[in-house]
Amino acid sequence: MPMQDLHDAIAEARRRYADANPKSRAAHEAAAAHLPGGNTRTVLHFEPFPLTMIGGEGAELIDLDGHRYLDFVSEYSAGLYGHSDATIKAATKDAIDRGMVLGAPTRYERELAGLICGRFPSIEQLRFCNSGTEANILALTTARVVTGREKVLVFRGAYHGGVIKFGHDTTPFNIPYDYVLADFNDTKGTEALIRQHGDQLAAVIVEPILGVGGNIPADPAFLAMLRQTTRDVGALLILDEVKTARLGPAGLQGRMGITPDLTTLGKIIAGGFPTGAFGGSAAIMQHYNPHKPGSLNHAGTFNNNICSMAAGCAALGEVFTPPRAEAFYETSEAFRRSLNTLFADAGVPMYCNGLGSIFAIHFTDRPLSRMVERTEAGKALNALLHLELLLRGVLIIGRGDLFLSLPMTEAHFGQARDALAGFIDQHKPLIARVLAHTPNPS
Ligand SMILES: Cc1ncc(COP(=O)(O)O)c(C=O)c1O
Repeated sequence: MPMQDLHDAIAEARRRYADANPKSRAAHEAAAAHLPGGNTRTVLHFEPFPLTMIGGEGAELIDLDGHRYLDFVSEYSAGLYGHSDATIKAATKDAIDRGMVLGAPTRYERELAGLICGRFPSIEQLRFCNSGTEANILALTTARVVTGREKVLVFRGAYHGGVIKFGHDTTPFNIPYDYVLADFNDTKGTEALIRQHGDQLAAVIVEPILGVGGNIPADPAFLAMLRQTTRDVGALLILDEVKTARLGPAGLQGRMGITPDLTTLGKIIAGGFPTGAFGGSAAIMQHYNPHKPGSLNHAGTFNNNICSMAAGCAALGEVFTPPRAEAFYETSEAFRRSLNTLFADAGVPMYCNGLGSIFAIHFTDRPLSRMVERTEAGKALNALLHLELLLRGVLIIGRGDLFLSLPMTEAHFGQARDALAGFIDQHKPLIARVLAHTPNPS
């Protein structure tokens, strides 16, 4: 019974994990007094309990029981700069030394807006907010107000924030927009849906890499169709680059040559501090110009908080400069390819799907181009991989994602390859038996 053996292997790994982390267990139990399940961010939970971290240095994290980890969680991609970038720390400290809550425009948001617009040709003007979720809510709301239409076309498996996420369908937890659901990378089917709902469609919102749905890069022809068809029907194309902005000087839109009407950003643009932004042509963004009678009123106490804005200026202006972004993409792709070579040489059906510093390990021997349907076997294999790598000092995300960070070195990449080789040595026969039983476990 391969599935029973897999569950036994996970149970055994959890026992080793619990034995090695008594202080994290106690912290988790104490937190449960006032936080439901000891948790305030669901994605950070895993069984039997998550690690409590006490610090980080460069690309490494230190937990409460004193273990040191190579960090591929990278704060779910916001941690591009690692844990201790000196330039970002100095800029942030300097800003807060001058006054923490100024309640007025400052030079920081002006400079950061200039840096972003200078890099993204499609963004002539933008507005800051507090998270990627908020950026997407505001972009969708802008589209509905500007077009006077109600419907929003989204993709199955897409994640645009805690209240804008989709499996096969929408959920009661989502903001109740009038959604039309399409399949990512289904060029013909999506074009037909856009034309069918054309005169009621406010926007199409799309991630250039379907993230939570498996880190599936968009086919350039699919994006080109979205660009043309939305234009034909008068709907706005919103590109969610909250995660993918790290893939080049102008995100993935620069790499793929697509010009959306609105772009949403977050995660990396404030050096690792909380933020979000939405922007596009001046014609659209002028709806937010308060000099104009009847302009849209976009509020938010912390939209221009000086910590995030000052950190962002240092991050985009001095650290993640356009040449650095290009070089980082190349190094990251080389690492991703090296893992795929390792899997192929070991004869194990595993594959890193994604691009550059954003990818996920799937239990398959080929690239994936459609949303991943996660089976019980796929989830269990990912749970085993997550724990076994953690026990070897390498942290990845439970569903198999890795995000690289700038302080990572070739030595770190070697450490990750060694940990994966150890996992394969230990579990290759079990993986083969599970896959013989469930051929498409992703
Ligand atoms: C593609 C995408 N959009 C939006 C968001 C939401 O960003 P935030 O967590 O800052 O609200 C995320 C977060 O992971 C994301 O991956």
